[in-house]
Parts: sequence; structure tokens; C-alpha cells
Amino acid sequence: MDDFLTTEVVRWQAHFGRNDLPWQNTRDPYRVWLSEIMLQQTQVVTVQAYFALFLARFADVRTLAQAPLDDVLHLWAGLGYYSRARNLHRCAQDVVRVYGGEFPQSAQQLQTLPGIGRSTAAAIAALCFGERVAILDGNVKRVLTRYLGFADDLALATHERRLWDQATALLPQGNLLYNMARYTQGMMDLGATLCTSKKPACSACPLSERCVAYAMDAVEKFPLKTRKLKRSAESIWLLWLVSSDGAVWLSQRPTPGVWAGLYCLPLFEARQVLLAAVEQQGADGLQDLPSFKHVLTHKDLYLHPVLLKLHGRPALALDGQWFGAAQIAKIGLPAPIKKLLQRTQPIPGAV
Ligand code: ADE
Repeated sequence: MDDFLTTEVVRWQAHFGRNDLPWQNTRDPYRVWLSEIMLQQTQVVTVQAYFALFLARFADVRTLAQAPLDDVLHLWAGLGYYSRARNLHRCAQDVVRVYGGEFPQSAQQLQTLPGIGRSTAAAIAALCFGERVAILDGNVKRVLTRYLGFADDLALATHERRLWDQATALLPQGNLLYNMARYTQGMMDLGATLCTSKKPACSACPLSERCVAYAMDAVEKFPLKTRKLKRSAESIWLLWLVSSDGAVWLSQRPTPGVWAGLYCLPLFEARQVLLAAVEQQGADGLQDLPSFKHVLTHKDLYLHPVLLKLHGRPALALDGQWFGAAQIAKIGLPAPIKKLLQRTQPIPGAV
């Protein structure tokens, strides 16, 4: 892999990056973690003062873990987003309880701790331990999408995932303890100081000669992120027909559409429509089961299962056919339907 990006960012960071912030020039994960949490939603200048106050009061992770939560919240006052302070305290307690007071070194483990998301975990692991993991906060997204000419809308999770993959592929390959710390800090510094949203200083940027957005004269167009699509909600009634030998009536979902090609309980847009469909069977035995929510990419589905047990395996004037348990195990069902069938498998028998 061409190492232009890493070479330039590492070199630039050493000469022009920020190297005198109070949480730098250390590989102490407690300091780096504390600063990264504070920096999540707060400007560097503000964090500097709070960081000093916190270190003076809580010198290490054990001291922080043992302090009353009220003390932490009190000292946090003014930084905002108080869930950060609560998570900070819980995280310190977990580090002491689960890890004997030493922060775990891998981003994967760090990410399991309260308040530490993927990018923060990667920042700590890269800055302290040289792990080859990518950060992707707002600043870094801006630098990378411009450099790569990554024009896909980051409002879509699949595009964001692809950017993470590309960010990972581009990381330094060797001398990781040095290079990962410099590169990670360098990408943040570039985004904060040169590669700004408005009026970026491209003439001073070490990446401009290979920057796709710069070559297109379209730097301010990146990154593309439309407003999140407004989520819609839909209620769907599920007809759960069970024969006396325990078979279930399923039909294949049409293509295109939700759950295309999968086998599903018959779906109805209203309870009345479902009732009409089973009129012939007699609606006396209908049982309304607890409703549940299923989240799709752009839609919340509220699913209302209605159970009806039938004699034998009658032929029905409904799309679909009977499936016994062994057959069901071999066909594709939407996850929420599969879960429903497993969770509350009705006992076949007396109707
Ligand atoms: N924002 C998030 N992490 C940072 C860091 N380590 N230095 C400067 N700004 C940051």
C-alpha cells in the first residue's frame, strides 16, 4: 500500500501538530482516557482547565473510582453532557473491579467500558499502546472524505462502515508505537487546524497534492451528510395460524419489499383485515399476543401477533402453506418472526 498519507501526516504532526497539550507526551491511559472523554463534546481550550482540576482531585483511576459520584458531577459542572461524568465514574469503577486498576490495552476491550465508543477506544489504544486501529471522529471524517474524494452520504450506516474500512486500510504499517500515536494525533490536528469545514488552509496542507477533493476544487462539499431521514412507523398484524400437529402457516414475501424472499406469517395492515381473512375459520379462538417493536433502517415496525389454533391442517384461502417444525428450521424467516415462533411456541393440541 502506498504510504504517502501516513508518511505525510506523521511528519507534519511532528513539526506542525499540537504537541504541548496537557494530556500529551504521556502514554498513561488514565490521562489519555480522561482527556478523550472531555474532548468528545467540548473544545480544547475549555478542556485544558477542567483536565487540570480533575487530575488534581483524582490523581489516578482508583481515586476516581472511590470518590462519591456527587464529587465527580460537581467538578464536571460547566462541561455539560452529564452522562459523560456518570459514565466516567462507572468506567473508573469497572477498570478497578474488572481489570485490577489497569486499563485494558486493546480497543476491543476498551470499547466494552461505559462511555467509550469505537473512536474513543481507538484513540486510547493508538495513542497509548500503538494499536493499529482507526479513529473516525468528525474532524477525521472531514480529512479522510476529502483526501479520498469519498462522496457517499454518511447519513447511511453502510457508507459510514465503508469509510471505517478505508480508514483502517490506510493506517501506518510499521513502527506502530511511534507512528500510530503521531498519525492518530496528526489526523485530529489536521482536521482541527487546516482541514476545517469552512475556508480550509489547503495551501499549507501536506496532503493537498494527492487530495481528491482539492483536485476537484470541491473541498467544502465533503463530507456529504444529509439530514437523517425522518423515521416512519408502521403497525402490522401478524396472523399466527397453528395446526393441531403444530405446523405453522407461512408464505414467501414478495420481491421487492420488506423481508423479500423470506417466509413469514401472513401480514395485515389492520386488525379488521386480518379478521376478514380468517372469517371462514371462526374467530372465536383468536388470541391477541403482546405487541413488540422491530427496528428497520428507516422504519419502526410495531408488530401485533394474533394466534389462532385450527383443527388438522385445513386448506386455506390465503397465500402460503403449512410448515412443520423440521421444515421451518430449513427456511429463511425474518429475525423477529423467527424469535416470535421460538419464544412463545404455542402448545399444539386442544382447540
Ligand atoms: N479531540 C479529541 N481528541 C483529541 C486530542 N487527543 N487532541 C486534540 N483534540 C482532540
